[in-house]
Amino acid sequence: MRTIIQNGTVVTSGGIVKADVEIKGESITSISQTVKPEIGDRIIDASNQYIFPGGIDVHTHLAWPFQSTGTADDFVTGTKAGAVGGITSIINFTNPKRGASLIDTQKEWIEKGNQAVIDYGLHAIINEYSDRVLEELPILAEEYGVSSIKLFMAYKGEMMVNDLEMYKIMKKAGELGIITNVHAENGDVIDELVRQAIAEGKTAPIYHGYTRPTVLEAEATGRALAIAEAADAPVYIVHVSCADALNKVDEAKKRGVKAFAETCPQYLVLDISYLDLPNFEGAKYVCSPPLREKWNQEVLWNGISNGLISVIGSDHCPFRFEGQKTLGKDDFSKIPNGVPGLEDIFSLLYHFGVNEGRISLQKFVEIISTGPAELFGMSKKGSISVGKDADIVILDPNRSRVITAETQYQNLDYNAYEGMKVQGLITNVLSRGELIVKDGIFIGEQGRGNYIYRDRLHNKQFELTKNNLKNLNNPSSTGISFKVQYDK
Ligand code: URP
Ligand code: ZN
Ligand code: ZN
Repeated sequence: MRTIIQNGTVVTSGGIVKADVEIKGESITSISQTVKPEIGDRIIDASNQYIFPGGIDVHTHLAWPFQSTGTADDFVTGTKAGAVGGITSIINFTNPKRGASLIDTQKEWIEKGNQAVIDYGLHAIINEYSDRVLEELPILAEEYGVSSIKLFMAYKGEMMVNDLEMYKIMKKAGELGIITNVHAENGDVIDELVRQAIAEGKTAPIYHGYTRPTVLEAEATGRALAIAEAADAPVYIVHVSCADALNKVDEAKKRGVKAFAETCPQYLVLDISYLDLPNFEGAKYVCSPPLREKWNQEVLWNGISNGLISVIGSDHCPFRFEGQKTLGKDDFSKIPNGVPGLEDIFSLLYHFGVNEGRISLQKFVEIISTGPAELFGMSKKGSISVGKDADIVILDPNRSRVITAETQYQNLDYNAYEGMKVQGLITNVLSRGELIVKDGIFIGEQGRGNYIYRDRLHNKQFELTKNNLKNLNNPSSTGISFKVQYDK
Protein backbone atom coordinates (compact mmCIF):
# COMPACT_ATOMS: atom_id res chain seq x y z
CA MET A 1 0.00 0.00 0.00
CA ARG A 2 1.05 3.52 -0.75
CA THR A 3 0.80 6.16 1.97
CA ILE A 4 0.67 9.87 1.24
CA ILE A 5 1.13 12.45 3.98
CA GLN A 6 -0.56 15.54 2.60
CA ASN A 7 -0.53 19.27 3.27
CA GLY A 8 2.15 19.33 5.94
CA THR A 9 5.40 21.25 6.32
CA VAL A 10 8.41 18.98 5.93
CA VAL A 11 11.34 19.85 8.16
CA THR A 12 14.83 18.54 7.57
CA SER A 13 18.14 19.77 8.93
CA GLY A 14 18.70 21.27 5.49
CA GLY A 15 15.42 23.08 4.88
CA ILE A 16 11.72 23.55 5.43
CA VAL A 17 9.24 23.02 2.64
CA LYS A 18 5.50 22.60 2.21
CA ALA A 19 5.18 19.27 0.46
CA ASP A 20 3.50 15.89 0.38
CA VAL A 21 5.45 12.80 1.32
CA GLU A 22 4.91 9.58 -0.61
CA ILE A 23 5.75 6.27 1.06
CA LYS A 24 5.88 2.88 -0.59
CA GLY A 25 6.54 -0.11 1.61
CA GLU A 26 9.08 0.93 4.23
CA SER A 27 10.69 3.82 2.37
CA ILE A 28 10.13 7.41 1.40
CA THR A 29 9.72 7.48 -2.38
CA SER A 30 8.87 11.08 -3.17
CA ILE A 31 8.62 14.52 -1.59
CA SER A 32 6.83 16.97 -3.80
CA GLN A 33 4.02 19.47 -4.06
CA THR A 34 2.13 17.23 -6.42
CA VAL A 35 1.87 13.65 -5.26
CA LYS A 36 -1.36 12.52 -6.94
CA PRO A 37 -3.56 10.32 -4.75
CA GLU A 38 -4.96 7.13 -6.29
CA ILE A 39 -7.67 4.75 -5.18
CA GLY A 40 -6.33 2.49 -2.45
CA ASP A 41 -3.81 5.00 -1.09
CA ARG A 42 -3.80 5.69 2.61
CA ILE A 43 -3.97 9.45 3.09
CA ILE A 44 -2.73 11.11 6.27
CA ASP A 45 -3.73 14.74 6.49
CA ALA A 46 -1.01 16.85 8.08
CA SER A 47 -2.60 20.26 7.46
CA ASN A 48 -1.04 22.92 9.69
CA GLN A 49 1.36 20.34 11.09
CA TYR A 50 5.07 19.70 10.88
CA ILE A 51 6.44 16.52 9.35
CA PHE A 52 9.71 15.61 11.07
CA PRO A 53 12.06 12.68 10.62
CA GLY A 54 11.58 10.29 13.54
CA GLY A 55 13.52 11.07 16.68
CA ILE A 56 16.59 8.96 17.43
CA ASP A 57 17.46 8.48 21.08
CA VAL A 58 21.00 7.11 21.27
CA HIS A 59 21.14 6.94 25.06
CA THR A 60 18.72 4.49 26.67
CA HIS A 61 19.05 1.94 29.45
CA LEU A 62 16.11 -0.41 28.83
CA ALA A 63 16.08 -3.74 30.69
CA TRP A 64 19.27 -2.67 32.39
CA PRO A 65 20.61 -4.28 35.56
CA PHE A 66 22.23 -1.53 37.63
CA GLN A 67 23.15 -0.72 41.21
CA SER A 68 21.46 -3.68 42.92
CA THR A 69 18.27 -3.30 40.90
CA GLY A 70 17.15 -3.00 37.28
CA THR A 71 15.49 -0.35 35.16
CA ALA A 72 11.71 -0.30 35.20
CA ASP A 73 11.19 -0.21 31.43
CA ASP A 74 11.99 -3.16 29.22
CA PHE A 75 12.15 -3.08 25.43
CA VAL A 76 8.35 -3.28 25.20
CA THR A 77 7.24 -0.56 27.62
CA GLY A 78 10.24 1.62 26.86
CA THR A 79 9.94 1.57 23.09
CA LYS A 80 6.16 2.07 23.20
CA ALA A 81 6.78 5.14 25.35
CA GLY A 82 9.41 6.32 22.90
CA ALA A 83 7.09 5.78 19.93
CA VAL A 84 4.22 7.89 21.31
CA GLY A 85 6.84 10.47 22.19
CA GLY A 86 8.19 10.71 18.62
CA ILE A 87 11.20 8.40 18.92
CA THR A 88 11.44 5.87 16.09
CA SER A 89 14.92 4.45 16.79
CA ILE A 90 16.95 3.96 19.92
CA ILE A 91 20.45 2.83 20.69
CA ASN A 92 20.36 1.02 24.02
CA PHE A 93 23.35 -0.03 26.09
CA THR A 94 24.26 -3.64 26.64
CA ASN A 95 25.53 -4.64 30.08
CA PRO A 96 27.99 -7.55 30.08
CA LYS A 97 27.93 -9.90 33.04
CA ARG A 98 31.28 -10.38 34.82
CA GLY A 99 33.67 -12.28 32.57
CA ALA A 100 31.18 -12.56 29.70
CA SER A 101 32.36 -12.19 26.13
CA LEU A 102 31.24 -9.12 24.21
CA ILE A 103 29.95 -11.30 21.41
CA ASP A 104 27.76 -13.42 23.70
CA THR A 105 26.55 -10.23 25.37
CA GLN A 106 25.66 -8.70 22.03
CA LYS A 107 23.68 -11.80 21.01
CA GLU A 108 21.88 -11.81 24.35
CA TRP A 109 20.88 -8.16 23.99
CA ILE A 110 19.81 -8.47 20.36
CA GLU A 111 17.48 -11.19 21.62
CA LYS A 112 16.16 -8.98 24.45
CA GLY A 113 15.48 -6.23 21.93
CA ASN A 114 13.37 -8.57 19.79
CA GLN A 115 10.29 -7.35 21.61
CA ALA A 116 10.87 -3.70 20.69
CA VAL A 117 8.19 -1.81 18.79
CA ILE A 118 10.68 0.50 17.05
CA ASP A 119 14.11 -0.15 15.56
CA TYR A 120 17.01 -0.50 17.94
CA GLY A 121 20.78 -0.57 17.89
CA LEU A 122 23.08 -1.47 20.75
CA HIS A 123 26.21 0.28 22.00
CA ALA A 124 28.54 -2.35 23.44
CA ILE A 125 29.50 -1.48 27.00
CA ILE A 126 32.95 -2.57 28.08
CA ASN A 127 32.89 -2.68 31.87
CA GLU A 128 35.97 -4.82 32.35
CA TYR A 129 39.24 -4.76 30.42
CA SER A 130 40.89 -7.87 29.01
CA ASP A 131 42.89 -8.65 25.89
CA ARG A 132 39.87 -10.60 24.65
CA VAL A 133 37.96 -7.31 24.41
CA LEU A 134 40.42 -6.07 21.79
CA GLU A 135 40.10 -9.31 19.84
CA GLU A 136 36.31 -9.17 19.90
CA LEU A 137 35.91 -5.59 18.74
CA PRO A 138 36.49 -6.29 15.00
CA ILE A 139 33.96 -9.14 15.14
CA LEU A 140 31.42 -6.94 16.85
CA ALA A 141 31.88 -4.29 14.19
CA GLU A 142 31.89 -6.58 11.17
CA GLU A 143 29.34 -9.21 12.11
CA TYR A 144 27.03 -7.30 14.43
CA GLY A 145 27.16 -3.79 12.99
CA VAL A 146 28.38 -2.25 16.23
CA SER A 147 29.90 1.14 15.49
CA SER A 148 30.03 2.44 19.06
CA ILE A 149 31.18 1.24 22.46
CA LYS A 150 30.89 2.77 25.91
CA LEU A 151 33.33 3.20 28.77
CA PHE A 152 32.74 4.52 32.28
CA MET A 153 35.11 6.64 34.35
CA ALA A 154 32.85 6.27 37.40
CA TYR A 155 30.89 3.52 39.20
CA LYS A 156 34.05 1.84 40.49
CA GLY A 157 33.75 -1.91 40.98
CA GLU A 158 30.74 -2.07 38.68
CA MET A 159 31.70 -0.38 35.40
CA MET A 160 34.77 1.82 35.76
CA VAL A 161 37.91 1.36 33.62
CA ASN A 162 41.25 3.04 34.29
CA ASP A 163 43.16 5.41 32.01
CA LEU A 164 45.45 2.80 30.48
CA GLU A 165 42.53 0.50 29.76
CA MET A 166 40.67 3.40 28.23
CA TYR A 167 43.62 4.26 26.03
CA LYS A 168 44.05 0.69 24.75
CA ILE A 169 40.36 0.26 24.03
CA MET A 170 39.99 3.67 22.36
CA LYS A 171 43.04 3.04 20.20
CA LYS A 172 41.70 -0.27 18.90
CA ALA A 173 38.22 1.20 18.47
CA GLY A 174 39.62 4.19 16.58
CA GLU A 175 41.52 1.94 14.17
CA LEU A 176 38.25 0.15 13.42
CA GLY A 177 36.18 3.33 12.95
CA ILE A 178 34.27 2.68 16.17
CA ILE A 179 33.39 5.70 18.29
CA THR A 180 33.81 5.47 22.06
CA ASN A 181 31.07 6.87 24.31
CA VAL A 182 32.44 7.99 27.65
CA HIS A 183 30.71 8.62 30.97
CA ALA A 184 33.11 11.24 32.27
CA GLU A 185 33.21 11.74 36.03
CA ASN A 186 36.18 11.15 38.34
CA GLY A 187 34.90 8.01 40.06
CA ASP A 188 37.73 7.67 42.58
CA VAL A 189 37.37 11.13 44.06
CA ILE A 190 33.58 11.00 43.96
CA ASP A 191 33.59 7.75 45.93
CA GLU A 192 35.71 9.41 48.61
CA LEU A 193 33.44 12.47 48.79
CA VAL A 194 30.41 10.19 49.09
CA ARG A 195 32.09 8.18 51.87
CA GLN A 196 32.89 11.36 53.79
CA ALA A 197 29.36 12.74 53.40
CA ILE A 198 27.70 9.57 54.65
CA ALA A 199 30.16 9.40 57.58
CA GLU A 200 29.08 12.95 58.50
CA GLY A 201 25.41 11.94 58.46
CA LYS A 202 24.67 13.79 55.22
CA THR A 203 22.34 11.20 53.77
CA ALA A 204 19.66 13.18 51.88
CA PRO A 205 19.39 13.22 48.06
CA ILE A 206 20.84 16.74 47.78
CA TYR A 207 24.23 15.34 48.85
CA HIS A 208 24.27 13.30 45.67
CA GLY A 209 24.63 16.66 43.93
CA TYR A 210 27.21 18.08 46.33
CA THR A 211 29.47 15.01 46.15
CA ARG A 212 29.68 15.08 42.34
CA PRO A 213 30.85 18.65 41.67
CA THR A 214 31.26 20.06 38.17
CA VAL A 215 35.08 20.13 38.49
CA LEU A 216 35.11 16.33 38.72
CA GLU A 217 33.01 16.03 35.59
CA ALA A 218 35.25 18.56 33.82
CA GLU A 219 38.43 16.84 34.95
CA ALA A 220 37.29 13.47 33.66
CA THR A 221 35.98 15.01 30.43
CA GLY A 222 39.33 16.66 29.80
CA ARG A 223 41.13 13.40 30.58
CA ALA A 224 38.92 11.33 28.27
CA LEU A 225 39.46 13.85 25.49
CA ALA A 226 43.22 13.84 26.01
CA ILE A 227 43.31 10.05 25.95
CA ALA A 228 41.22 10.02 22.76
CA GLU A 229 43.61 12.55 21.26
CA ALA A 230 46.63 10.42 22.15
CA ALA A 231 44.89 7.37 20.70
CA ASP A 232 43.78 9.35 17.62
CA ALA A 233 40.29 8.00 18.18
CA PRO A 234 36.80 9.48 17.91
CA VAL A 235 35.11 10.10 21.24
CA TYR A 236 31.57 10.99 22.28
CA ILE A 237 31.10 12.48 25.73
CA VAL A 238 27.68 11.42 26.95
CA HIS A 239 25.40 13.49 29.17
CA VAL A 240 27.44 16.70 29.42
CA SER A 241 25.71 18.53 32.27
CA CYS A 242 27.60 21.76 32.84
CA ALA A 243 29.65 24.63 31.48
CA ASP A 244 32.89 23.36 33.04
CA ALA A 245 32.72 20.09 31.10
CA LEU A 246 31.52 21.71 27.89
CA ASN A 247 34.52 24.04 27.97
CA LYS A 248 36.76 20.98 27.85
CA VAL A 249 34.92 19.78 24.74
CA ASP A 250 35.33 23.21 23.18
CA GLU A 251 39.09 23.24 23.85
CA ALA A 252 39.49 19.72 22.47
CA LYS A 253 37.51 20.44 19.31
CA LYS A 254 39.67 23.49 18.72
CA ARG A 255 42.76 21.28 19.00
CA GLY A 256 41.28 19.03 16.32
CA VAL A 257 40.27 16.12 18.56
CA LYS A 258 37.53 14.00 16.96
CA ALA A 259 35.28 14.96 19.83
CA PHE A 260 31.50 15.03 20.04
CA ALA A 261 29.22 15.92 22.92
CA GLU A 262 25.73 14.97 24.01
CA THR A 263 23.47 16.61 26.54
CA CYS A 264 20.11 15.48 27.89
CA PRO A 265 16.76 17.16 28.57
CA GLN A 266 17.20 16.95 32.34
CA TYR A 267 20.25 19.24 32.18
CA LEU A 268 18.44 21.68 29.89
CA VAL A 269 15.21 21.87 31.85
CA LEU A 270 15.78 20.80 35.48
CA ASP A 271 18.34 22.00 38.04
CA ILE A 272 19.91 21.05 41.35
CA SER A 273 17.05 22.51 43.41
CA TYR A 274 14.97 19.44 42.44
CA LEU A 275 17.34 17.27 44.50
CA ASP A 276 16.30 19.24 47.57
CA LEU A 277 12.56 18.60 47.27
CA PRO A 278 10.92 17.57 50.57
CA ASN A 279 9.64 14.09 51.51
CA PHE A 280 12.49 12.35 49.73
CA GLU A 281 11.05 13.55 46.39
CA GLY A 282 14.57 14.69 45.48
CA ALA A 283 15.42 11.00 44.93
CA LYS A 284 13.35 11.08 41.74
CA TYR A 285 15.98 13.42 40.29
CA VAL A 286 19.11 11.52 41.30
CA CYS A 287 21.16 10.89 38.19
CA SER A 288 24.84 11.10 37.30
CA PRO A 289 26.21 13.57 36.55
CA PRO A 290 23.78 15.32 38.88
CA LEU A 291 21.47 18.20 38.01
CA ARG A 292 23.41 21.45 38.08
CA GLU A 293 22.94 25.09 39.02
CA LYS A 294 20.41 26.66 36.70
CA TRP A 295 22.81 29.05 34.93
CA ASN A 296 24.45 26.06 33.21
CA GLN A 297 21.30 25.53 31.16
CA GLU A 298 21.90 28.58 29.01
CA VAL A 299 25.46 27.47 28.31
CA LEU A 300 24.20 24.09 27.15
CA TRP A 301 21.52 25.66 24.91
CA ASN A 302 24.22 27.85 23.37
CA GLY A 303 26.36 24.74 22.91
CA ILE A 304 23.52 23.20 20.90
CA SER A 305 23.11 26.33 18.79
CA ASN A 306 26.79 26.74 17.99
CA GLY A 307 27.44 23.07 17.23
CA LEU A 308 29.55 22.20 20.28
CA ILE A 309 26.84 19.72 21.25
CA SER A 310 25.97 17.35 18.40
CA VAL A 311 23.23 15.20 19.88
CA ILE A 312 20.55 15.15 22.54
CA GLY A 313 19.95 11.79 24.23
CA SER A 314 17.51 11.07 27.04
CA ASP A 315 19.76 8.88 29.24
CA HIS A 316 16.47 7.15 29.98
CA CYS A 317 17.36 5.13 33.07
CA PRO A 318 14.00 4.70 34.80
CA PHE A 319 13.47 3.51 38.36
CA ARG A 320 10.17 3.56 40.18
CA PHE A 321 9.95 5.86 43.18
CA GLU A 322 8.31 3.27 45.45
CA GLY A 323 10.58 0.29 45.97
CA GLN A 324 13.49 1.45 43.83
CA LYS A 325 14.38 5.09 44.55
CA THR A 326 13.37 4.39 48.17
CA LEU A 327 16.27 1.92 48.46
CA GLY A 328 18.26 5.01 49.38
CA LYS A 329 15.88 6.42 51.99
CA ASP A 330 18.63 6.50 54.63
CA ASP A 331 21.64 6.80 52.34
CA PHE A 332 21.63 8.79 49.08
CA SER A 333 24.40 6.60 47.65
CA LYS A 334 21.93 3.70 47.51
CA ILE A 335 19.41 5.60 45.39
CA PRO A 336 19.63 4.07 41.91
CA ASN A 337 21.00 6.69 39.52
CA GLY A 338 18.84 7.73 36.62
CA VAL A 339 15.86 9.72 35.42
CA PRO A 340 13.28 8.82 32.78
CA GLY A 341 13.05 10.80 29.55
CA LEU A 342 12.45 8.58 26.51
CA GLU A 343 8.76 9.46 26.23
CA ASP A 344 9.23 13.19 26.56
CA ILE A 345 12.62 14.06 25.05
CA PHE A 346 11.17 15.02 21.66
CA SER A 347 8.43 17.20 23.18
CA LEU A 348 10.74 18.82 25.71
CA LEU A 349 13.28 19.75 23.07
CA TYR A 350 10.57 21.05 20.77
CA HIS A 351 8.89 23.08 23.52
CA PHE A 352 11.86 24.53 25.40
CA GLY A 353 14.02 24.70 22.28
CA VAL A 354 11.94 25.61 19.26
CA ASN A 355 8.78 26.96 20.81
CA GLU A 356 10.60 29.15 23.32
CA GLY A 357 12.93 30.44 20.60
CA ARG A 358 16.23 28.92 21.76
CA ILE A 359 16.88 26.84 18.66
CA SER A 360 15.62 26.75 15.10
CA LEU A 361 13.41 24.02 13.69
CA GLN A 362 16.31 22.80 11.59
CA LYS A 363 18.66 22.62 14.56
CA PHE A 364 15.96 20.66 16.37
CA VAL A 365 15.92 18.06 13.59
CA GLU A 366 19.70 18.06 13.42
CA ILE A 367 20.26 17.11 17.04
CA ILE A 368 17.29 14.80 17.60
CA SER A 369 17.52 12.91 14.32
CA THR A 370 20.02 13.75 11.58
CA GLY A 371 23.07 14.21 13.82
CA PRO A 372 22.67 10.96 15.77
CA ALA A 373 21.93 9.01 12.57
CA GLU A 374 25.14 10.26 10.95
CA LEU A 375 27.38 9.92 13.96
CA PHE A 376 26.21 6.43 14.86
CA GLY A 377 26.04 5.06 11.33
CA MET A 378 22.31 4.65 10.79
CA SER A 379 22.30 5.25 7.07
CA LYS A 380 18.58 4.64 6.49
CA LYS A 381 17.51 6.96 9.30
CA GLY A 382 17.62 10.61 10.25
CA SER A 383 16.07 12.49 7.39
CA ILE A 384 12.98 12.91 5.28
CA SER A 385 14.51 12.17 1.93
CA VAL A 386 13.95 9.73 -0.88
CA GLY A 387 15.30 6.26 -0.13
CA LYS A 388 15.34 6.68 3.64
CA ASP A 389 13.18 4.62 5.96
CA ALA A 390 9.78 6.25 6.38
CA ASP A 391 10.30 7.00 10.08
CA ILE A 392 8.15 10.09 10.47
CA VAL A 393 6.67 12.19 13.25
CA ILE A 394 3.74 14.53 12.65
CA LEU A 395 3.42 17.29 15.21
CA ASP A 396 0.72 19.90 15.59
CA PRO A 397 2.38 23.11 16.83
CA ASN A 398 -0.97 24.65 17.71
CA ARG A 399 -1.89 22.03 20.28
CA SER A 400 -0.30 21.34 23.65
CA ARG A 401 -0.29 18.74 26.40
CA VAL A 402 0.56 18.53 30.08
CA ILE A 403 3.17 15.93 30.96
CA THR A 404 1.93 13.60 33.67
CA ALA A 405 2.64 10.14 35.03
CA GLU A 406 -1.10 9.42 34.90
CA THR A 407 -1.17 9.12 31.13
CA GLN A 408 2.40 8.09 30.34
CA TYR A 409 3.41 4.81 28.68
CA GLN A 410 6.64 4.64 30.71
CA ASN A 411 6.38 1.90 33.35
CA LEU A 412 6.80 4.32 36.23
CA ASP A 413 4.97 5.82 39.18
CA TYR A 414 6.28 9.33 38.49
CA ASN A 415 7.43 11.57 35.68
CA ALA A 416 10.38 13.90 36.21
CA TYR A 417 8.57 16.62 34.24
CA GLU A 418 5.21 16.25 35.98
CA GLY A 419 2.82 19.15 35.35
CA MET A 420 4.88 20.87 32.65
CA LYS A 421 2.79 22.14 29.76
CA VAL A 422 4.48 21.58 26.43
CA GLN A 423 3.38 23.24 23.22
CA GLY A 424 3.31 20.94 20.20
CA LEU A 425 1.36 17.69 20.14
CA ILE A 426 2.60 14.55 18.44
CA THR A 427 -0.39 13.23 16.54
CA ASN A 428 0.93 10.45 14.28
CA VAL A 429 4.12 8.43 14.08
CA LEU A 430 5.25 6.12 11.30
CA SER A 431 8.01 3.58 11.58
CA ARG A 432 9.28 2.13 8.30
CA GLY A 433 6.05 3.22 6.66
CA GLU A 434 3.76 1.68 9.26
CA LEU A 435 1.46 3.93 11.24
CA ILE A 436 2.29 2.96 14.81
CA VAL A 437 0.87 5.98 16.65
CA LYS A 438 -2.50 7.35 15.58
CA ASP A 439 -3.95 10.42 17.26
CA GLY A 440 -1.45 9.99 20.07
CA ILE A 441 -2.35 6.34 20.76
CA PHE A 442 0.07 3.47 20.16
CA ILE A 443 -1.41 1.02 17.63
CA GLY A 444 1.67 -0.94 16.52
CA GLU A 445 2.66 -4.47 17.34
CA GLN A 446 5.08 -5.74 19.93
CA GLY A 447 8.23 -7.16 18.37
CA ARG A 448 7.99 -5.23 15.08
CA GLY A 449 11.26 -3.38 15.75
CA ASN A 450 14.37 -4.42 13.82
CA TYR A 451 17.91 -4.60 15.08
CA ILE A 452 19.97 -1.92 13.31
CA TYR A 453 23.33 -2.91 11.86
CA ARG A 454 25.28 0.32 11.91
CA ASP A 455 28.08 1.69 9.74
CA ARG A 456 31.39 2.66 11.18
CA LEU A 457 32.81 6.15 10.93
CA HIS A 458 34.74 6.79 7.76
CA ASN A 459 37.17 9.46 6.81
CA LYS A 460 34.31 11.35 5.20
CA GLN A 461 32.83 11.94 8.63
CA PHE A 462 36.08 13.33 9.92
CA GLU A 463 36.07 15.76 7.02
CA LEU A 464 32.68 16.78 8.30
CA THR A 465 34.22 17.35 11.70
CA LYS A 466 36.86 19.53 10.17
CA ASN A 467 34.17 21.57 8.45
CA ASN A 468 32.35 21.89 11.75
CA LEU A 469 35.58 23.08 13.26
CA LYS A 470 35.88 25.71 10.58
CA ASN A 471 32.33 26.75 11.31
CA LEU A 472 33.07 26.97 14.99
CA ASN A 473 35.93 29.30 14.30
CA ASN A 474 33.67 31.51 12.25
CA PRO A 475 31.00 32.87 14.59
CA SER A 476 28.81 34.04 11.74
CA SER A 477 28.41 30.49 10.48
CA THR A 478 27.69 28.79 13.80
CA GLY A 479 24.18 27.47 14.22
CA ILE A 480 21.59 27.73 11.53
CA SER A 481 19.40 30.77 11.63
CA PHE A 482 16.47 31.23 9.32
CA LYS A 483 12.93 32.43 9.35
CA VAL A 484 10.44 29.69 10.09
CA GLN A 485 8.10 29.46 7.14
CA TYR A 486 5.06 27.94 8.62
CA ASP A 487 1.66 28.73 7.12
CA LYS A 488 -1.27 28.57 9.48
O1 URP B 1 22.31 8.47 36.34
C1 URP B 1 22.48 7.93 35.27
N1 URP B 1 22.93 8.61 34.26
N2 URP B 1 22.19 6.62 35.15
C2 URP B 1 22.38 5.80 34.02
C3 URP B 1 23.77 5.28 33.92
C4 URP B 1 24.64 6.31 33.31
O2 URP B 1 25.52 6.82 33.97
O3 URP B 1 24.46 6.66 32.13
ZN1 ZN C 1 26.50 7.71 32.37
ZN1 ZN D 1 23.27 6.68 30.67
